[in-house]
Amino acid sequence: LFGYKTNKVSGYFEPIEPSKEDLLLLPKGYKYDVVAAFDDVINQAGERFGQGSDYNAFFPLDGSNTRGLLVNNHEYTNIFSIGPIAEDGKWTNEQIQKDLYYQGMSVIEVYRDWDGSWKMDTGSAYARRVNGYTPFELTGPAKWTEAVGSTASATGTFANCSGGITLWKTVLSCEENFSETAERAGLPLTHYGWVVEIDPFDGTYAKKHTALGRFNHENTAMGLTADGRVVVYMGDDKKDACVYKFVSAGKYDESLGRANSALLEDGSLYVANLKSGKWVPVTYEAIAKLLANTGFKAPTGVKGTRDELLAKFRNQGDVVANCHEAALIVGGTPTDRPEDIEISPFDNTVFIAHTNNDTHGNIHGHITRIFEKDDDLGGTEFDFEIFIAGGRQSGFSSPDNLAFDSSGNLWVVTDISSSSHNKGVYKSFMNNGLFVVPSHGPAMAQAMQFASAPVESELTGPFFTPDESTLFLSIQHPGEMTTDLSKPTSLWPHRPGDSIARCGVVAISGFKLG
Ligand code: FEO
Ligand code: CA
Ligand code: CA
Ligand code: CA
Repeated sequence: LFGYKTNKVSGYFEPIEPSKEDLLLLPKGYKYDVVAAFDDVINQAGERFGQGSDYNAFFPLDGSNTRGLLVNNHEYTNIFSIGPIAEDGKWTNEQIQKDLYYQGMSVIEVYRDWDGSWKMDTGSAYARRVNGYTPFELTGPAKWTEAVGSTASATGTFANCSGGITLWKTVLSCEENFSETAERAGLPLTHYGWVVEIDPFDGTYAKKHTALGRFNHENTAMGLTADGRVVVYMGDDKKDACVYKFVSAGKYDESLGRANSALLEDGSLYVANLKSGKWVPVTYEAIAKLLANTGFKAPTGVKGTRDELLAKFRNQGDVVANCHEAALIVGGTPTDRPEDIEISPFDNTVFIAHTNNDTHGNIHGHITRIFEKDDDLGGTEFDFEIFIAGGRQSGFSSPDNLAFDSSGNLWVVTDISSSSHNKGVYKSFMNNGLFVVPSHGPAMAQAMQFASAPVESELTGPFFTPDESTLFLSIQHPGEMTTDLSKPTSLWPHRPGDSIARCGVVAISGFKLG
Protein backbone atom coordinates (compact mmCIF):
# COMPACT_ATOMS: atom_id res chain seq x y z
CA LEU A 1 0.00 0.00 0.00
CA PHE A 2 2.67 2.50 1.05
CA GLY A 3 6.20 2.54 2.45
CA TYR A 4 8.17 0.07 0.40
CA LYS A 5 11.44 -0.16 2.29
CA THR A 6 11.31 -3.11 4.61
CA ASN A 7 14.07 -1.80 6.87
CA LYS A 8 11.73 0.98 7.98
CA VAL A 9 9.02 0.86 10.59
CA SER A 10 6.79 2.34 7.89
CA GLY A 11 7.36 -0.72 5.71
CA TYR A 12 4.28 -2.76 4.77
CA PHE A 13 2.11 -3.75 7.71
CA GLU A 14 -1.29 -5.32 8.20
CA PRO A 15 -3.49 -2.84 10.09
CA ILE A 16 -4.77 -4.00 13.49
CA GLU A 17 -8.27 -3.81 14.93
CA PRO A 18 -9.33 -1.54 17.83
CA SER A 19 -8.87 -3.20 21.23
CA LYS A 20 -9.80 -2.78 24.91
CA GLU A 21 -6.83 -4.79 26.19
CA ASP A 22 -4.37 -3.38 28.71
CA LEU A 23 -1.56 -3.88 26.21
CA LEU A 24 0.38 -2.02 23.61
CA LEU A 25 -0.68 -3.95 20.51
CA LEU A 26 1.27 -3.77 17.24
CA PRO A 27 0.87 -5.33 13.78
CA LYS A 28 2.32 -8.76 13.06
CA GLY A 29 6.10 -8.64 12.72
CA TYR A 30 6.66 -5.69 15.07
CA LYS A 31 7.87 -5.60 18.68
CA TYR A 32 8.55 -2.99 21.31
CA ASP A 33 10.98 -2.51 24.19
CA VAL A 34 10.24 -0.29 27.20
CA VAL A 35 13.31 1.98 27.29
CA ALA A 36 12.28 4.05 30.32
CA ALA A 37 9.26 4.23 32.58
CA PHE A 38 8.09 6.53 35.37
CA ASP A 39 10.48 6.67 38.34
CA ASP A 40 13.25 4.62 36.71
CA VAL A 41 16.74 5.80 37.68
CA ILE A 42 18.25 7.54 34.63
CA ASN A 43 21.83 8.38 35.66
CA GLN A 44 24.61 7.85 38.19
CA ALA A 45 23.33 10.77 40.28
CA GLY A 46 20.17 8.72 40.91
CA GLU A 47 17.79 11.13 39.17
CA ARG A 48 14.43 9.64 38.21
CA PHE A 49 12.47 9.52 34.97
CA GLY A 50 9.46 11.84 35.18
CA GLN A 51 5.75 11.24 34.73
CA GLY A 52 3.25 12.01 31.97
CA SER A 53 5.55 11.06 29.09
CA ASP A 54 4.77 13.05 25.97
CA TYR A 55 7.04 14.40 23.20
CA ASN A 56 10.17 12.48 22.17
CA ALA A 57 13.22 13.65 20.21
CA PHE A 58 16.13 11.37 19.31
CA PHE A 59 19.65 12.76 18.73
CA PRO A 60 22.15 10.27 17.28
CA LEU A 61 25.54 10.00 18.96
CA ASP A 62 28.27 9.95 16.30
CA GLY A 63 25.66 9.60 13.56
CA SER A 64 24.39 6.30 14.95
CA ASN A 65 20.86 4.99 14.47
CA THR A 66 21.34 2.61 17.38
CA ARG A 67 22.72 4.93 20.08
CA GLY A 68 21.69 8.45 20.97
CA LEU A 69 20.13 10.87 23.38
CA LEU A 70 16.39 10.68 23.83
CA VAL A 71 14.61 13.74 25.18
CA ASN A 72 11.19 13.07 26.69
CA ASN A 73 8.61 15.61 27.93
CA HIS A 74 6.80 15.08 31.23
CA GLU A 75 3.41 16.72 31.14
CA TYR A 76 1.74 16.03 34.46
CA THR A 77 1.61 13.89 37.58
CA ASN A 78 -1.16 11.68 38.89
CA ILE A 79 -2.04 9.32 41.72
CA PHE A 80 0.83 6.96 40.85
CA SER A 81 3.45 9.63 41.66
CA ILE A 82 1.86 11.91 44.24
CA GLY A 83 -0.64 9.51 45.82
CA PRO A 84 -4.28 10.27 46.58
CA ILE A 85 -5.30 13.90 47.21
CA ALA A 86 -6.88 14.64 50.62
CA GLU A 87 -10.67 14.91 50.69
CA ASP A 88 -10.52 18.69 51.17
CA GLY A 89 -8.56 18.91 47.89
CA LYS A 90 -5.46 20.33 49.61
CA TRP A 91 -2.05 19.10 48.51
CA THR A 92 0.71 18.45 51.02
CA ASN A 93 4.09 20.16 50.59
CA GLU A 94 5.55 16.80 49.64
CA GLN A 95 2.96 16.39 46.90
CA ILE A 96 3.69 19.88 45.56
CA GLN A 97 7.42 19.10 45.51
CA LYS A 98 6.86 15.80 43.72
CA ASP A 99 4.61 17.60 41.24
CA LEU A 100 7.48 19.98 40.38
CA TYR A 101 10.08 17.19 40.33
CA TYR A 102 8.28 14.69 38.10
CA GLN A 103 7.18 17.22 35.44
CA GLY A 104 9.53 18.83 32.91
CA MET A 105 11.82 16.75 30.73
CA SER A 106 14.32 13.89 30.84
CA VAL A 107 17.43 13.59 28.73
CA ILE A 108 18.44 9.92 28.65
CA GLU A 109 20.92 7.88 26.62
CA VAL A 110 19.48 4.88 24.76
CA TYR A 111 21.02 2.17 22.62
CA ARG A 112 20.07 -0.96 20.70
CA ASP A 113 21.77 -3.97 22.21
CA TRP A 114 23.32 -6.96 20.39
CA ASP A 115 20.00 -8.87 20.61
CA GLY A 116 18.08 -6.01 18.96
CA SER A 117 16.47 -4.73 22.15
CA TRP A 118 16.56 -1.05 23.09
CA LYS A 119 17.82 -0.11 26.56
CA MET A 120 18.62 2.95 28.63
CA ASP A 121 22.30 3.56 29.51
CA THR A 122 22.25 4.89 33.05
CA GLY A 123 26.03 5.37 32.92
CA SER A 124 25.51 8.22 30.44
CA ALA A 125 27.32 11.51 31.06
CA TYR A 126 24.44 13.37 29.35
CA ALA A 127 21.48 11.89 31.24
CA ARG A 128 19.75 14.48 33.41
CA ARG A 129 16.43 15.90 34.49
CA VAL A 130 14.97 19.28 33.64
CA ASN A 131 12.02 20.04 35.91
CA GLY A 132 10.11 22.55 38.01
CA TYR A 133 13.34 23.59 39.73
CA THR A 134 15.59 24.21 36.68
CA PRO A 135 16.64 27.86 36.13
CA PHE A 136 15.67 29.38 32.75
CA GLU A 137 16.66 32.56 30.97
CA LEU A 138 13.86 34.63 29.41
CA THR A 139 14.43 36.01 25.91
CA GLY A 140 12.40 38.26 23.60
CA PRO A 141 9.90 41.08 24.07
CA ALA A 142 8.55 40.12 27.53
CA LYS A 143 12.02 39.96 29.12
CA TRP A 144 12.43 42.72 31.77
CA THR A 145 8.85 43.93 31.22
CA GLU A 146 6.20 44.23 33.94
CA ALA A 147 4.33 41.36 32.27
CA VAL A 148 6.87 38.93 33.76
CA GLY A 149 7.65 40.94 36.92
CA SER A 150 10.55 42.91 35.38
CA THR A 151 12.92 39.97 35.34
CA ALA A 152 15.07 38.06 32.83
CA SER A 153 14.77 34.65 34.47
CA ALA A 154 12.20 32.07 35.55
CA THR A 155 12.35 29.00 37.76
CA GLY A 156 11.35 25.69 36.29
CA THR A 157 9.30 24.25 33.49
CA PHE A 158 6.24 22.02 33.76
CA ALA A 159 3.17 20.90 31.80
CA ASN A 160 5.59 20.00 28.98
CA CYS A 161 3.33 18.63 26.31
CA SER A 162 4.55 18.18 22.77
CA GLY A 163 7.49 19.98 21.18
CA GLY A 164 9.79 20.05 18.21
CA ILE A 165 13.42 20.07 17.23
CA THR A 166 15.23 23.09 15.83
CA LEU A 167 17.36 23.25 12.68
CA TRP A 168 20.33 23.66 15.06
CA LYS A 169 19.63 20.40 16.95
CA THR A 170 18.12 21.66 20.17
CA VAL A 171 14.67 20.82 21.58
CA LEU A 172 11.69 23.13 21.88
CA SER A 173 9.29 21.98 24.58
CA CYS A 174 5.82 23.44 25.03
CA GLU A 175 4.28 24.44 28.35
CA GLU A 176 0.59 23.63 27.99
CA ASN A 177 -1.74 23.40 31.01
CA PHE A 178 0.60 25.10 33.48
CA SER A 179 -1.72 27.09 35.71
CA GLU A 180 -2.65 24.51 38.37
CA THR A 181 0.94 23.53 39.11
CA ALA A 182 2.07 27.19 39.19
CA GLU A 183 -0.80 28.25 41.46
CA ARG A 184 -0.33 25.39 43.91
CA ALA A 185 3.41 26.06 44.14
CA GLY A 186 2.89 29.83 44.49
CA LEU A 187 4.85 30.59 41.31
CA PRO A 188 4.10 33.59 39.02
CA LEU A 189 1.73 32.49 36.23
CA THR A 190 3.39 34.64 33.56
CA HIS A 191 6.63 32.65 33.90
CA TYR A 192 4.88 29.62 32.32
CA GLY A 193 2.98 28.97 29.12
CA TRP A 194 6.02 29.63 26.93
CA VAL A 195 8.07 27.62 24.45
CA VAL A 196 11.28 26.54 26.19
CA GLU A 197 14.52 25.51 24.51
CA ILE A 198 17.10 23.09 25.89
CA ASP A 199 20.25 21.62 24.40
CA PRO A 200 20.42 17.88 25.13
CA PHE A 201 24.22 18.04 24.92
CA ASP A 202 24.62 21.09 27.21
CA GLY A 203 23.03 21.14 30.67
CA THR A 204 23.79 24.84 31.16
CA TYR A 205 21.53 25.97 28.31
CA ALA A 206 17.84 26.64 29.12
CA LYS A 207 15.71 29.41 27.60
CA LYS A 208 12.09 30.53 27.43
CA HIS A 209 11.37 32.36 24.16
CA THR A 210 8.69 34.97 24.82
CA ALA A 211 8.55 36.14 21.17
CA LEU A 212 6.65 32.90 20.43
CA GLY A 213 3.78 34.00 22.69
CA ARG A 214 2.34 32.68 25.92
CA PHE A 215 -0.66 30.37 25.69
CA ASN A 216 -1.48 26.67 26.15
CA HIS A 217 1.31 25.62 23.81
CA GLU A 218 0.99 22.18 22.23
CA ASN A 219 3.97 21.87 19.90
CA THR A 220 6.26 23.60 17.43
CA ALA A 221 6.93 22.81 13.78
CA MET A 222 9.98 24.58 12.37
CA GLY A 223 10.72 25.33 8.73
CA LEU A 224 12.30 27.97 6.50
CA THR A 225 10.76 30.69 4.36
CA ALA A 226 11.72 30.92 0.68
CA ASP A 227 14.18 33.68 1.62
CA GLY A 228 15.77 31.71 4.47
CA ARG A 229 14.06 32.99 7.63
CA VAL A 230 12.95 30.60 10.36
CA VAL A 231 9.24 29.82 10.73
CA VAL A 232 7.64 28.17 13.77
CA TYR A 233 4.02 26.96 13.60
CA MET A 234 2.22 26.54 16.91
CA GLY A 235 -1.15 25.41 18.24
CA ASP A 236 -2.95 26.61 21.39
CA ASP A 237 -4.69 23.53 22.78
CA LYS A 238 -7.93 24.99 24.09
CA LYS A 239 -11.46 24.93 22.81
CA ASP A 240 -11.92 27.97 20.54
CA ALA A 241 -8.24 28.88 20.34
CA CYS A 242 -6.02 29.93 17.46
CA VAL A 243 -3.21 28.72 15.22
CA TYR A 244 -0.02 30.80 15.18
CA LYS A 245 3.19 31.17 13.26
CA PHE A 246 6.34 33.06 14.15
CA VAL A 247 8.65 34.30 11.39
CA SER A 248 12.13 35.45 12.40
CA ALA A 249 13.46 38.84 11.36
CA GLY A 250 16.91 37.46 10.48
CA LYS A 251 17.95 34.60 8.22
CA TYR A 252 19.13 31.13 9.20
CA ASP A 253 22.87 30.51 8.77
CA GLU A 254 23.74 26.84 9.16
CA SER A 255 27.41 27.64 9.91
CA LEU A 256 26.38 29.48 13.10
CA GLY A 257 24.96 26.34 14.74
CA ARG A 258 23.22 27.01 18.04
CA ALA A 259 23.76 30.77 17.76
CA ASN A 260 20.80 30.65 15.33
CA SER A 261 18.67 30.43 18.45
CA ALA A 262 18.82 34.24 18.58
CA LEU A 263 16.42 34.16 15.60
CA LEU A 264 13.68 33.08 18.05
CA GLU A 265 14.09 36.33 19.97
CA ASP A 266 13.16 38.80 17.25
CA GLY A 267 10.49 38.41 14.58
CA SER A 268 6.79 38.60 13.76
CA LEU A 269 4.08 36.59 15.47
CA TYR A 270 1.01 35.93 13.30
CA VAL A 271 -2.38 34.37 13.99
CA ALA A 272 -4.48 32.60 11.34
CA ASN A 273 -7.74 34.14 10.17
CA LEU A 274 -9.40 31.20 8.41
CA LYS A 275 -12.03 33.37 6.74
CA SER A 276 -9.78 35.90 5.03
CA GLY A 277 -7.02 33.32 4.57
CA LYS A 278 -4.54 35.76 6.07
CA TRP A 279 -1.86 35.53 8.72
CA VAL A 280 -2.61 38.57 10.89
CA PRO A 281 0.25 40.19 12.87
CA VAL A 282 -0.22 40.01 16.66
CA THR A 283 1.45 43.29 17.58
CA TYR A 284 1.09 46.06 20.10
CA GLU A 285 0.70 48.53 17.20
CA ALA A 286 -2.27 46.61 15.75
CA ILE A 287 -3.98 46.37 19.14
CA ALA A 288 -3.34 50.04 20.04
CA LYS A 289 -4.88 51.06 16.73
CA LEU A 290 -8.04 48.99 17.34
CA LEU A 291 -8.36 50.15 20.95
CA ALA A 292 -7.97 53.81 19.89
CA ASN A 293 -11.48 53.58 18.46
CA THR A 294 -13.86 54.69 21.26
CA GLY A 295 -16.50 52.37 19.82
CA PHE A 296 -14.26 49.30 20.26
CA LYS A 297 -16.10 46.19 21.41
CA ALA A 298 -14.17 43.15 22.56
CA PRO A 299 -14.74 40.00 20.46
CA THR A 300 -16.18 36.82 22.01
CA GLY A 301 -13.60 35.19 24.26
CA VAL A 302 -12.00 38.47 25.35
CA LYS A 303 -13.03 39.83 28.74
CA GLY A 304 -12.84 43.46 29.80
CA THR A 305 -13.93 46.93 28.81
CA ARG A 306 -11.95 49.05 26.37
CA ASP A 307 -10.35 50.90 29.31
CA GLU A 308 -9.35 47.65 30.98
CA LEU A 309 -7.82 46.40 27.74
CA LEU A 310 -5.94 49.68 27.24
CA ALA A 311 -4.43 49.14 30.70
CA LYS A 312 -3.66 45.51 29.95
CA PHE A 313 -1.89 45.99 26.60
CA ARG A 314 0.86 48.59 27.06
CA ASN A 315 3.68 47.09 24.98
CA GLN A 316 4.69 43.95 23.06
CA GLY A 317 5.60 42.23 26.36
CA ASP A 318 1.95 42.51 27.43
CA VAL A 319 0.82 41.30 24.00
CA VAL A 320 2.92 38.10 24.02
CA ALA A 321 2.09 37.41 27.69
CA ASN A 322 -1.66 37.67 26.97
CA CYS A 323 -1.41 36.18 23.52
CA HIS A 324 -4.77 34.37 23.22
CA GLU A 325 -6.76 37.55 23.92
CA ALA A 326 -4.46 39.67 21.76
CA ALA A 327 -4.90 37.21 18.88
CA LEU A 328 -8.69 37.30 19.12
CA ILE A 329 -8.66 41.11 19.20
CA VAL A 330 -6.66 41.35 15.95
CA GLY A 331 -8.93 38.83 14.19
CA GLY A 332 -7.55 35.35 14.88
CA THR A 333 -10.12 32.60 14.20
CA PRO A 334 -11.09 30.45 17.19
CA THR A 335 -10.70 26.77 16.22
CA ASP A 336 -11.33 23.32 17.71
CA ARG A 337 -8.37 22.60 20.00
CA PRO A 338 -5.38 22.99 17.65
CA GLU A 339 -2.80 20.44 18.86
CA ASP A 340 0.20 19.13 16.92
CA ILE A 341 1.27 20.80 13.67
CA GLU A 342 3.66 19.29 11.12
CA ILE A 343 5.07 20.67 7.88
CA SER A 344 4.98 18.17 5.00
CA PRO A 345 8.55 17.45 3.92
CA PHE A 346 7.27 17.09 0.32
CA ASP A 347 5.24 20.16 -0.50
CA ASN A 348 5.40 22.61 2.43
CA THR A 349 1.72 22.11 3.19
CA VAL A 350 1.00 22.37 6.91
CA PHE A 351 -1.05 19.77 8.80
CA ILE A 352 -2.87 20.71 12.00
CA ALA A 353 -4.58 18.24 14.34
CA HIS A 354 -7.83 19.82 15.54
CA THR A 355 -8.57 17.33 18.30
CA ASN A 356 -12.25 18.07 18.95
CA ASN A 357 -14.58 20.67 20.48
CA ASP A 358 -17.77 19.42 22.09
CA THR A 359 -19.09 22.96 22.63
CA HIS A 360 -20.11 23.04 19.00
CA GLY A 361 -20.46 19.44 18.01
CA ASN A 362 -17.02 18.62 16.63
CA ILE A 363 -16.90 15.36 18.58
CA HIS A 364 -14.28 13.45 16.57
CA GLY A 365 -12.04 16.29 15.38
CA HIS A 366 -10.22 16.58 12.07
CA ILE A 367 -6.85 17.29 10.47
CA THR A 368 -6.66 20.61 8.69
CA ARG A 369 -4.20 21.14 5.82
CA ILE A 370 -2.93 24.64 5.10
CA PHE A 371 -1.62 25.65 1.68
CA GLU A 372 0.64 28.67 2.01
CA LYS A 373 0.64 31.11 -0.93
CA ASP A 374 3.26 30.01 -3.49
CA ASP A 375 4.16 27.17 -1.05
CA ASP A 376 6.27 29.72 0.83
CA LEU A 377 6.10 29.23 4.60
CA GLY A 378 6.79 32.98 4.90
CA GLY A 379 3.60 33.87 3.04
CA THR A 380 0.94 35.96 4.73
CA GLU A 381 -1.93 34.42 2.72
CA PHE A 382 -3.13 30.84 2.65
CA ASP A 383 -5.94 28.49 1.72
CA PHE A 384 -6.97 25.35 3.61
CA GLU A 385 -8.91 22.11 3.47
CA ILE A 386 -10.11 19.47 5.93
CA PHE A 387 -7.61 16.72 5.01
CA ILE A 388 -9.36 13.97 6.99
CA ALA A 389 -12.18 14.05 9.51
CA GLY A 390 -12.38 11.78 12.56
CA GLY A 391 -15.39 9.48 12.93
CA ARG A 392 -16.72 6.11 11.88
CA GLN A 393 -15.71 6.45 8.24
CA SER A 394 -12.04 7.20 8.90
CA GLY A 395 -11.87 4.84 11.90
CA PHE A 396 -10.22 7.18 14.39
CA SER A 397 -11.37 9.95 16.71
CA SER A 398 -9.67 12.97 18.29
CA PRO A 399 -6.29 13.29 16.49
CA ASP A 400 -3.48 14.75 18.58
CA ASN A 401 0.27 14.34 17.86
CA LEU A 402 1.46 14.05 14.27
CA ALA A 403 4.73 12.90 12.69
CA PHE A 404 5.80 12.46 9.06
CA ASP A 405 7.91 9.57 7.77
CA SER A 406 10.05 9.84 4.63
CA SER A 407 7.43 8.00 2.55
CA GLY A 408 4.97 10.83 3.15
CA ASN A 409 2.84 8.98 5.67
CA LEU A 410 1.40 11.02 8.48
CA TRP A 411 1.50 9.14 11.79
CA VAL A 412 -1.43 10.21 13.95
CA VAL A 413 -2.09 9.38 17.59
CA THR A 414 -5.50 9.85 19.15
CA ASP A 415 -6.61 11.46 22.40
CA ILE A 416 -10.09 10.30 23.30
CA SER A 417 -10.36 11.33 26.96
CA SER A 418 -10.34 8.39 29.38
CA SER A 419 -13.74 9.40 30.78
CA SER A 420 -15.20 8.91 27.27
CA HIS A 421 -13.52 5.58 26.45
CA ASN A 422 -15.91 2.87 25.30
CA LYS A 423 -18.91 5.14 25.84
CA GLY A 424 -21.50 6.73 23.56
CA VAL A 425 -20.24 7.55 20.08
CA TYR A 426 -16.64 6.72 21.11
CA LYS A 427 -17.47 3.01 21.65
CA SER A 428 -16.27 1.65 18.32
CA PHE A 429 -12.79 3.19 18.68
CA MET A 430 -12.11 1.40 22.01
CA ASN A 431 -8.67 2.34 23.45
CA ASN A 432 -6.63 5.16 21.92
CA GLY A 433 -4.41 4.29 18.97
CA LEU A 434 -1.72 5.17 16.47
CA PHE A 435 -2.79 5.46 12.83
CA VAL A 436 -0.87 5.80 9.58
CA VAL A 437 -2.41 8.15 7.02
CA PRO A 438 -0.67 8.56 3.63
CA SER A 439 -0.54 12.22 2.61
CA HIS A 440 -0.38 11.42 -1.12
CA GLY A 441 -0.76 8.49 -3.53
CA PRO A 442 -3.64 6.01 -3.97
CA ALA A 443 -4.24 5.55 -0.22
CA MET A 444 -4.21 9.30 0.52
CA ALA A 445 -6.23 10.28 3.58
CA GLN A 446 -7.03 6.67 4.51
CA ALA A 447 -6.26 5.81 8.14
CA MET A 448 -4.78 2.42 9.03
CA GLN A 449 -4.33 1.43 12.68
CA PHE A 450 -0.74 0.60 13.64
CA ALA A 451 -0.99 0.43 17.43
CA SER A 452 -3.58 0.13 20.19
CA ALA A 453 -2.82 1.73 23.57
CA PRO A 454 -3.09 0.21 27.05
CA VAL A 455 -6.18 0.97 29.18
CA GLU A 456 -6.86 4.68 29.87
CA SER A 457 -3.68 5.75 28.11
CA GLU A 458 -2.82 7.91 25.18
CA LEU A 459 0.03 7.31 22.74
CA THR A 460 2.14 10.45 22.41
CA GLY A 461 5.37 11.76 20.92
CA PRO A 462 6.00 9.53 17.86
CA PHE A 463 9.60 10.14 16.69
CA PHE A 464 11.71 8.10 14.24
CA THR A 465 15.43 7.41 14.23
CA PRO A 466 16.97 9.01 11.08
CA ASP A 467 16.91 5.66 9.19
CA GLU A 468 13.34 5.02 10.44
CA SER A 469 14.28 1.57 11.68
CA THR A 470 12.96 2.50 15.12
CA LEU A 471 9.95 4.51 16.24
CA PHE A 472 10.00 5.99 19.74
CA LEU A 473 6.57 6.40 21.26
CA SER A 474 5.33 7.44 24.70
CA ILE A 475 2.59 5.64 26.58
CA GLN A 476 1.00 8.44 28.60
CA HIS A 477 -1.25 8.05 31.66
CA PRO A 478 -2.13 4.32 31.62
CA GLY A 479 -4.74 3.65 34.31
CA GLU A 480 -5.36 7.36 34.92
CA MET A 481 -8.90 6.81 36.22
CA THR A 482 -7.48 4.93 39.22
CA THR A 483 -8.79 6.37 42.50
CA ASP A 484 -7.63 3.58 44.86
CA LEU A 485 -3.94 2.61 44.62
CA SER A 486 -4.78 -0.94 45.68
CA LYS A 487 -7.01 -1.27 42.60
CA PRO A 488 -5.17 0.22 39.62
CA THR A 489 -7.24 0.15 36.41
CA SER A 490 -4.08 -0.62 34.39
CA LEU A 491 -0.81 -2.31 35.29
CA TRP A 492 1.01 -1.44 32.09
CA PRO A 493 3.91 -2.08 31.32
CA HIS A 494 3.38 -5.24 33.40
CA ARG A 495 6.99 -5.47 34.54
CA PRO A 496 7.59 -8.10 37.22
CA GLY A 497 6.94 -6.76 40.72
CA ASP A 498 5.00 -3.68 39.64
CA SER A 499 1.80 -2.78 41.52
CA ILE A 500 1.06 0.49 39.71
CA ALA A 501 0.76 1.61 36.09
CA ARG A 502 3.78 3.48 34.73
CA CYS A 503 3.86 5.83 31.78
CA GLY A 504 7.01 5.51 29.71
CA VAL A 505 8.72 5.40 26.35
CA VAL A 506 8.92 2.40 24.05
CA ALA A 507 11.10 1.72 21.01
CA ILE A 508 9.16 -0.02 18.23
CA SER A 509 10.96 -1.95 15.52
CA GLY A 510 10.39 -4.77 13.05
CA PHE A 511 11.34 -8.32 14.08
CA LYS A 512 13.58 -8.62 11.02
CA LEU A 513 15.96 -6.12 12.54
CA GLY A 514 16.56 -8.18 15.68
FE1 FEO B 1 -0.97 18.03 26.13
FE2 FEO B 1 -2.80 19.19 24.07
O1 FEO B 1 -2.07 17.75 24.76
CA1 CA C 1 -1.32 16.58 22.92
CA1 CA D 1 4.71 16.13 16.10
CA1 CA E 1 -3.56 15.12 24.94
